Amino acid sequence: MKADVVLGSFYGDEGKGKIIDYLSQTADFAVRFSGGNNAGHSIEINGKKFAFHLVPSGILNKNTIAVIGNGVVVDPKVLLEEIKQLKDNGYDAKNLRISDKAHVIFPYHVQMDKLQEGLRGNQKIGTTNRGIGPTYCDKYERCGIRMGDFVNKRYEEQLRRNIEVKNNIFKTYGYETFDADKMLEEYNAYADILKEYVVDTVALLHEAIEQDKKILCEGAQATLLDIDFGSYPFVTSSSPTVGGVCTGTGIGAKYIGEVYGVLKAYSSKVGEGPYITEQDNEIGDQIRELGYEYGTTTKRPRRCGWLDLVALRYAVMINGLTGLAINHVDTIGKLDKIKLCVGYKKDGKVTMQYSTDIEEIAKCEPIYEEFEGNFGDISHIKNREDLPENAKKYLNRIEEVVKVPIKFIGTGAGRDCMIVC
Ligand code: IMP
Repeated sequence: MKADVVLGSFYGDEGKGKIIDYLSQTADFAVRFSGGNNAGHSIEINGKKFAFHLVPSGILNKNTIAVIGNGVVVDPKVLLEEIKQLKDNGYDAKNLRISDKAHVIFPYHVQMDKLQEGLRGNQKIGTTNRGIGPTYCDKYERCGIRMGDFVNKRYEEQLRRNIEVKNNIFKTYGYETFDADKMLEEYNAYADILKEYVVDTVALLHEAIEQDKKILCEGAQATLLDIDFGSYPFVTSSSPTVGGVCTGTGIGAKYIGEVYGVLKAYSSKVGEGPYITEQDNEIGDQIRELGYEYGTTTKRPRRCGWLDLVALRYAVMINGLTGLAINHVDTIGKLDKIKLCVGYKKDGKVTMQYSTDIEEIAKCEPIYEEFEGNFGDISHIKNREDLPENAKKYLNRIEEVVKVPIKFIGTGAGRDCMIVC
């Protein structure tokens, strides 16, 4: 049995949760491999709402082991809140496992994130201010603290050194400094509670592979936010692409099975940066209202536009996608006419090459094909063949251009409004 993977194809907010919820119902193991509590996933079960940032949503299935892999950065306070949320709602966290190699986020990381963002002035990245970047910095600088050392109280010396160095920086910029003794007292208490969940997850997952267990790797963030392949510097500090599965779990490439790329039938983006297929006009406004494209936490309106198959092809290449999960097909079908970007025109030539270089991408113009909309209510449809002709034509063309089959089609807001192809 191989591990299947669900990833975001563009900038996040593609609706990974819906596919993950569906696939994790039959998974023996649900695994997070990158990022931290910069991600967000809400889920409603039997009328109860849960909001998770760290814990894989598979934890809500009694028979699924939820694993926080070594590639994740863990804020102990946030994790304890999520464990409490589970217990308060009659679930327990006995199926939770945390990698001994995952790195710990401390309050100085969160403050460093704010300091760095403040210094960027009008060139802000717009980070989530959760300390994600600074924790990965310490990991690569080799002064980070790993969960195994944390829960076994082998971190005092390193923590004191880190606080000394960081306090000097904070003093320089007039920020609050931290007291090592106080932090040790507070965090030792967290370590005691978390100890029971910390294990060697590499060994655990390999045992699972040997026993033919079903593993689902839940992506956070998305391809264009990847530290290497995204639109740097407007990216996160980890690898939310398929390579991150290997480095963030210890599962070797040959054990990876299906890699599903999640996308919407149109596109959206939060924040600055080039966006070739953006419709900064009535069409964009219409898509935003129909798809309710507003930030989940901030309610910030998202920029909206047509689906860009050049960018999707890039996600296909980087991740070796084996299947697509396309959400909001019902939403795009409410328009009379739909456009699909099937290539770019650059320096008078047609190209399918995506670039994350801002100057290069500015030279590109989208080439559109037009499709008929008005799909009607498709929310009850369970077979792709039963979709209206206009919807079929649109979906067929996407597959034809990017040469990857569509495996899931989102047909409405409800969790069960989905065609499994
Ligand atoms: P950071 O991950 O907090 O460092 O933020 C870096 C960039 O990634 C910012 O533009 C964030 O808005 C974006 N980002 C981080 N996590 C997510 C996510 O889960 N969905 C969408 N965008 C994200």
